[in-house]
Order: sequence, then structure tokens, then C-alpha cells
Amino acid sequence: WATFADDIDAIHALKREHDAVILAHNYMTPEVFHGVADIVGDSLALAREAQTVEAGTIVLAGVHFMAETAKLLNPGKRVLLPDLRSGCSLAESITPEQVRELRAQHPGVPVVTYVNTSAAIKAESDICCTSGNALAVLESLGVPEVIMIPDQYLARNIAAQTGIRVITHPGACEVHERFTPLDIVGIRQGHPGVQVLAHPECPPDVVAEADFAGSTAQMQAYVERERPERVALITECSMSDNVAAANPDVDFVRPCNLCPHMKRNTLSAIRAALEQGRHEITLDPATARDARRAIERMLEVA
Ligand code: 13P
Ligand code: SF4
Repeated sequence: WATFADDIDAIHALKREHDAVILAHNYMTPEVFHGVADIVGDSLALAREAQTVEAGTIVLAGVHFMAETAKLLNPGKRVLLPDLRSGCSLAESITPEQVRELRAQHPGVPVVTYVNTSAAIKAESDICCTSGNALAVLESLGVPEVIMIPDQYLARNIAAQTGIRVITHPGACEVHERFTPLDIVGIRQGHPGVQVLAHPECPPDVVAEADFAGSTAQMQAYVERERPERVALITECSMSDNVAAANPDVDFVRPCNLCPHMKRNTLSAIRAALEQGRHEITLDPATARDARRAIERMLEVA
């Protein structure tokens, strides 16, 4: 921890100097998550919290779509993303033209868009969802069929909990699609009594092998509520580190895959973002207006 102390002290001073807060996703490394973040959470919590930030600057320690969402929900603030290369395989999997094609192929069917997309995709959508509220969003629509984009696995995992049919797009999270059912079989063999929690971006055959599926915040809540003796979180690597720090009595088996985009938020990148006021998120006003409508509609449901 001592090796981080210089950057952590400097970041706290810079936050005061620039009237800034750091919103950090649950996949941040512990030195960011525990060392410099002011607000932490899953995608849904970060969106909600972004709405009420009073400081002039938000540094989003996460990925590009999260910074865009913060800007959409609190447009008067300066929103900084420490590294513009912090993308997401889901956001990159679909274009606005493809959304329009899906609409044309399925007239009248509402488009439910995962927040892991660009503002341009959200602007083409009826409503957004996160992994934490996807079921509630689908059920709120009162329709037999939805177009649910761009994560084919999230769509199928959520559809399996309802009678609602989903039309999907072949997008996937490059981190969660790498888990297999055999990974879970191996974990259970090697760690008797383990409870397995999977993120719903995992393929459905992986979720079927798990004891519980939910967003990163829902996994954390499960650990805190159920207090399993031993747990495996089938998700990004930093998640177990952060939840384990707050739950020292729980034994964490640590299968994981790294998200290279999340990992760009190093302390030095965050420090440089505050020192140099970079990289500021800006949005085309018409796109922002339509994208905001889809996100606000989601927040009304949740
Ligand atoms: P949640 O934290 O909303 O579960 O999202 C996980 C994720 O992969 C974000 O990119
Ligand atoms: Fe995107 Fe997956 Fe990384 Fe989340 S973990 S930012 S969904 S690539």
C-alpha cells in the first residue's frame, strides 16, 4: 500500500483543489476502490449517484459508457474519463444502423438497451436497463416481446426468468463470455460447500451451473446477506478483492477474468486526469436528449 501512498495523497489534494469527486465501478483495483473513490457501485448505482453529484467535476473511474451516462444525467458537470481507450466489447458490438434495422424487422416491438452502449445507441432506444434492473424493466413494459440489445447472454438469462420473448443481437462481454460450465464444476470439486455467484453477462449454461446470478452490487449484497462460508464470484477479478476486503470472515475462491478496459484506470491515470482536466466527455445535444430519455425512463422504473 505504501507504494500507492504518494498518488493517493496527491489525488485527495487534487479533488479538493478542483472540486471533484471520483465515481468508481466495482471492478476498480483495491487501491482505487478503497484508496481514492468517493462513491462506488454497480452501473445502476453509479448512474443514480451521478444525478445528485454537487461537485463541479466527476472523474469516472470506469469505462466510456459510464462516463457518458454520468454526463447525460448531470449535464452541467465536467465529466472526466482518465483513459479514452476504456471501451467495452458490448458497446462496440452494435451500430445505430443495426438498431434501426432491428426496429424495421420487428415493427412495434420496444427496444430495451443495456447501459453498456454508446449514447448514440441509447438514443435509438425506448428504454435502458442494467444487469441490476433488467427484469423489472422488461416486466414494466407489459408486452409479450422485446428487442433486447446488445448482450445476447444477458437477454437470454433475463428472458429465462419471464414469459417475455426476446429478440437479441450477437454482442457479448469479452470478460464474462470466457467462463464455461466446466469452470464451475471444477470449482465445486476443488472447494466443497462453495456458493457460486455469476454475473448475468455470462453465457446461460454458466448461469445454470451457479447458485445465484446478479449484478456486481447484487453479488455483494448476497455475500453480506447470506454470509456463505466460501464463495466464488464468476466475474471480473477486482470484484472478489473488493468484496473480500469488507468480508474477512468469508473464504473467496478466486476464478476470474480481467477487463482490460476497466484496468486502464490506474492511480497515475486518475491523477493525470485531475491535473490536466482530461479527458472531458462531450455529447451532441440531439443525441444526448434522446439518450437521456431512455435512461430516465429506466430510472423511473427502477
Ligand atoms: P454491473 O456492475 O452493473 O453488474 O456491470 C458489470 C459490468 O460488466 C460493467 O461493465
Ligand atoms: Fe464491458 Fe465486460 Fe469490461 Fe464490463 S467487464 S466493461 S461489460 S468488457
